[in-house]
Amino acid sequence: MSKDKEIFEKIYEVGAVWTESKPPKELVNLIESRKIKLCKVLDIGCGEGFYAIYLASKDFEVTGIDISENAIKLAKENATKEGIKIKFMQMDVVDLGMVNDEFDFVFEWAVLHHIIPKQRQKYVNNIKSILNKRGKYLSVCFNNQNPDFGAKGKNLRIVSEGSAMPAGTKLYYSSFEEMKQLFGQHFNIIGAKLIQMTTGSKHHIGNYFFMEKP
Ligand SMILES: C[S@@+](CC[C@H](N)C(=O)[O-])C[C@H]1O[C@@H](n2cnc3c(N)ncnc32)[C@H](O)[C@@H]1O
Repeated sequence: MSKDKEIFEKIYEVGAVWTESKPPKELVNLIESRKIKLCKVLDIGCGEGFYAIYLASKDFEVTGIDISENAIKLAKENATKEGIKIKFMQMDVVDLGMVNDEFDFVFEWAVLHHIIPKQRQKYVNNIKSILNKRGKYLSVCFNNQNPDFGAKGKNLRIVSEGSAMPAGTKLYYSSFEEMKQLFGQHFNIIGAKLIQMTTGSKHHIGNYFFMEKP
């Protein structure tokens, strides 16, 4: 088992500190403004499944994937509790070959900062390959202006002992410009801004990119 997967399995043995049952307002806005209309959706790094459940409750056809089997187990239990049908699968997004499907909307909330830059071209290519033409893609990840950045000038932070997250968790904080360059090569950027991402009492600055496949 890869170190990254092992870390997420450990986190989701009991449920993650970052899990929010309420979907973020940026996602809700896309749905309520009808910028995203009823369609097939892929939630990448779905964690305990609450955002996928929100979308399925609005009649979207949803698939959720996550690298962690424990997360997928929790997501399935949460969907069952709500009486909602969602396809949840354990999968590494850097190896999306197994998703034998195409989607109109793909999103990942707080996932890309766990993917180091050398894997990101592959990651973005994978997303492009499973998006329909004119399909939409929302990506939100940590920006490098975060005060808890803690990496002494480096973008990669490896969590040390004593944090709420297991020691060894990798977080790569990206600049807004870096994200613009990565996505701009592949997608038409519809909206890009810095946002506040809130989990519990913690706030982070996030890179928000809403895009369309040409
Ligand atoms: C910070 S959590 C966010 C979870 C969820 N999107 C949310 O906002 O509650 C990051 C998620 O990405 C998943 N993840 C990390 N690397 C992944 C990868 N390579 N492939 C698929 N999922 C991954 C983790 O297991 C975790 O559930």
